Parts: sequence; structure tokens; C-alpha cells
Amino acid sequence: MTEYNFLKACWGQSVDQVPVWLMRQAGRYLPQYKAVRAQGGGTFLDLCKDPARAAEVSIQPIDILNADAAILFSDILTPIEPMGMKLDFVPGPVFENPVRTSADVDALVVPEDMAAAVSYVPAIIKRLRLAFAGRVPLIGFGGAPFTLACYMVEGKGSKDFASLKQMMYSDFPLYDALMQKVTEMDRRYLNMQIDSGAQAIQIFDTWGGILAPHDYERYILPYVKLLIDGLNRDGIPVIYFVKGGGGMLDLVKQSGADVLGLDWHVNLGKARDILGPDIAVQGNLDPTVLYAPKDYIEKEVQRILDENGDRPGFIFNLGHGILPTVPPENAIHMVECVHRLSQK
Ligand code: CP3
Repeated sequence: MTEYNFLKACWGQSVDQVPVWLMRQAGRYLPQYKAVRAQGGGTFLDLCKDPARAAEVSIQPIDILNADAAILFSDILTPIEPMGMKLDFVPGPVFENPVRTSADVDALVVPEDMAAAVSYVPAIIKRLRLAFAGRVPLIGFGGAPFTLACYMVEGKGSKDFASLKQMMYSDFPLYDALMQKVTEMDRRYLNMQIDSGAQAIQIFDTWGGILAPHDYERYILPYVKLLIDGLNRDGIPVIYFVKGGGGMLDLVKQSGADVLGLDWHVNLGKARDILGPDIAVQGNLDPTVLYAPKDYIEKEVQRILDENGDRPGFIFNLGHGILPTVPPENAIHMVECVHRLSQK
């Protein structure tokens, strides 16, 4: 039914060549990104809210890397702004009024109409669908509820997100009220992306791996399930990436996603043995391997292709986002190796 290798692989169908894209493929490692980012002298958020420039940086890695899928250019935290939280990037994200009390949670708005609340997002998606016109499929994305809550409660990045974990362990009703609101916002936000033309959805749970498996099961999984269950998924594959989720794949699989993203702390072949044939996987090259010489990158690509073996339902990716100081030619080389070495 679908003709793109990326979408076929999401559905577990066989392909003539393994599809590949890179998490954070539009970004600062590309001089072309930095040039567009510098235009007008605005901030990163200004770029996210300018549909013409945002679409341009989303297209760049398709032209430069020859990636098999494009991803919407935005950030997981942009839809939190219309919930009533002031967002800045310095360059890491900062909320000046973090959520700590029940009054804070009560004050959070769950916009009825996400297309109106973040109107630049459907505008970018529509531009990209027109620009790609059948060349590559477009992935929409959002943060998983837990990862979004990490930033909302902490107010910024953190090693351990102690403020959120304190709320979670000491005041579960408050944590639950926050998570219900974030999950409902997320559901509306991702469905709006599907309505606007996104052809797959990736949910980033960057911090999902900071909890023990039994805590993941109690404090994260129910909300992710609720979210994925509530998506208008007909024909739209859902990819769920939990950084650090390799030790609890049985639980992560219960999310109901069509594809699981893996980081590099698991052996891809062993992960597939645990997960079984009815779910696709995406991953999982250590992003720092892109600092290695070209022949080393090629060997690592071959190793991961070998770990996957002949199993259908495989999308090559990094195990986390590409780093800003990676030489672009090494990323180009990686994509070329995946295509050449997996060619049937
Ligand atoms: O993948 C893509 O090319 C699409 C764009 C995209 C961005 N952020 C743009 C961005 C995506 C998919 C994200 C997701 C995101 N954002 C995540 C989940 C994935 C992950 O990496 O774990 C998280 C946790 C964030 C939050 C965030 N945004 C952080 C922690 C930072 C600062 C650190 C950093 O990487 O700069 C950002 C800023 C950000 N988001 C930039 C870009 C291109 C850099 C901004 C700049 O140009 O200065």
C-alpha cells in the first residue's frame, strides 16, 4: 500500500534497502542550518515560529544527507507555551515559572484548538508536504508526557529531575493531575499534526529511562498508553523512543507503538529477540561514532545491519540526537553506508 521504504519498515514490511534518518537531523552540525538560523538575528524560537525558514531547515538534511524521512522542525516544548508557560532557550530550554503546586497545575490551559494555539506548526507541515511532493514522508513529533513534565516541573534541564520525582513520590494526585493535562494536550497536538499532513509520529521519551522499571510501569506507561490509544492512527505509524529503555523492553512494548526507538546501550539483535517479530525497531548507532574515521563508521553500520539480520521492520538511526560538532561529511557517509550495505 505504502511505497516509501521508511513507512514500509514501520509496518514491518520488507524493503529493498534499509531506510535511515537521524534524530535531530536539522541542526547546528549543518552550516546551512546555522546560516538560516542567523537570518534576521532572531532566536531559536523565532525560527520555530517562522514557517518558511523552519520548512527550509527541515528540507536541508533530505538534500544534504539523502535521508529517507524528514521530521517537522520544531521542539518538544513549543506546545507547552500555550498551556501558559513562558519558554526560552539559552540555549537549553528554560521555563521561568515552573509547575510546583496544585494552583500551578490548575492554571495550566489545555487548548481546545491546537492548530490555532501553535498555528506555525500546521503551516510548516503543509509547506513541507508540498515541498516533498512524494519524495520523502514527513514525521511529526512530540515529547512523551513524562519528558515534558520533567521540564515543566524542573523549569530547565537536569541530571536527575529531582523536583519532578519529589512530586511524583510524595504527592501522586498532584503528579497525576499534571500528567493528565499534559497527556491530553499532547493527544490534541499530535492529532492536529496528523490532520495537517504528518505521515508518521515520533514520541520522544528522552528521560523515560531515569526511572526503575516498576516505576516506569506505574508513573510513565499508563499515560503513554493513553496518549497512543487516543491518536488517530489509521495508516499513521507511531514510533516511541525511550532513551535508556533497553532494560525494560517488555514494558516499553506495552505502550502500543508500532515502532520502538532504541539507544546504543542495547544490542539491537538481542532487543529484537526480546520484542519478537510483531514490532519494528529504529536505532541505534552511538552518536559519537560519527566522530570516528570513515572506515570505522562503515564497520559500525555493518555491525548494526548484521545484528538486525534479515528481519523486516528495521529503520536505521542514531541511538540519540546527532551532536552539534559532528562533521557533516561523516553523517553523509553514514547514510551512504546504510544504503549501500543493505541494498538487496
Ligand atoms: O530532529 C529534528 O531535526 C527536528 C527538530 C528537533 C529539535 N528538538 C530542534 C532543536 C527535535 C525533534 C527536538 C526534540 C527535543 N527537544 C528533545 C527530544 C530529543 C532529544 O534530543 O532528546 C528534547 C529533550 C528537546 C529539548 C531541547 N531543545 C533541548 C534540551 C535543547 C538544548 C540542547 C540542544 O540540543 O541545543 C533544545 C534546543 C534545540 N531544539 C535546538 C534544535 C535545532 C538547538 C537550538 C539552536 O539552534 O540554538
